[in-house]
Amino acid sequence: MRQVSLDIPVTADVAIVWRDAGLYLLDQRELPSREVFVACPDAATTADAIRAMVVRGAPAIGITAAYAVALSAREHAARAPTAWREPLAGDLDVLAAARPTAVNLFWAIERMRGLIGTLDDADPFPALLAEAEAMHARDRADNRRMGEFGAALIAGPTNVITHCNTGGLATGGWGTALGVIRSAFAQGRIGRVYADETRPWLQGARLTAWELARDAIPVSVIADGAAAARLAGGGIGWAIVGSDRIAANGDVANKIGTYSLAVAARYHGVRFMVAAPTSTIDLATPDGRAIPIEERPADEVLQCAGRRTSADGVAAWNPVFDVTPAALVDVIVTERGVIEHPDRVKIAAHMAGD
Ligand code: MRU
Repeated sequence: MRQVSLDIPVTADVAIVWRDAGLYLLDQRELPSREVFVACPDAATTADAIRAMVVRGAPAIGITAAYAVALSAREHAARAPTAWREPLAGDLDVLAAARPTAVNLFWAIERMRGLIGTLDDADPFPALLAEAEAMHARDRADNRRMGEFGAALIAGPTNVITHCNTGGLATGGWGTALGVIRSAFAQGRIGRVYADETRPWLQGARLTAWELARDAIPVSVIADGAAAARLAGGGIGWAIVGSDRIAANGDVANKIGTYSLAVAARYHGVRFMVAAPTSTIDLATPDGRAIPIEERPADEVLQCAGRRTSADGVAAWNPVFDVTPAALVDVIVTERGVIEHPDRVKIAAHMAGD
């Protein structure tokens, strides 16, 4: 993968850039030390970038894949103007195999597949690029709405705790849980954000803290193991997280460590909010047990900043998501509104627009 500099101001909202007819991803593996982009000339490189965590966060992965479908269409239509469908379908499969848990990836690919099915044999690129751009813009707008719905629940002023990175970097812009936090802070409802560092990739320490510090929102990074003690200490009004997939019964898959945060929050009487767009709700997955949980290489746990921290011969188990049972979730906030104490019936009604 080729790293490049772009002459644009680097903010959390430029995680995915379509520019000069090309796709560029802010390399989140390098933040906060370096602000560089990875050039994605084709779908295979984009799938590699998703797998390697250049871009991560459920909605951002979906949007990136949508742009990659447009790239693939351009490439194959140029090579074979009337026979682009088959190689394009192959690239859709490559993209779908990049990461297993975030359902937004499959949601975006299915949307693009549906559009492809309506196109004639003329150049598919303009229509697919327009769809990817619309998806990107829609996610930004949805996050703003979600931010308002979520902020309204926070009586404030209070402090909040969050896990992983759910901001502009993880979405089309503004963020899901971090979008709620941004909106609530702007309304004076939040004093300080406690950000779990989020071992082993440190999305909290590296990315969430970077986003909040740039917005001048007071943030303290805590070790994941400090969350329960922080909740016990008082002064925390809400735990607010995002999600990679919400099952039909309201079980929530999110970054590993979310479940223990939810257990600790319930024990200490702190309310637990999940902010996620409806593209994260997967009615085809009946409950949390059916959510595929990605396991990543042991080295991610056995090393820190590229240095081995455990003795040679030591093994590791590295599931990168866990499932929080719906019973521990006080509210799910989407761009359509709020689901209190989610269950199968309420989720179905929400998705049906009732
Ligand atoms: O492995 P990652 O960094 O892609 O995991 C990201 C998360 O778990 C986020 O909390 C989730 O995608 C919701 S954010 C919009």
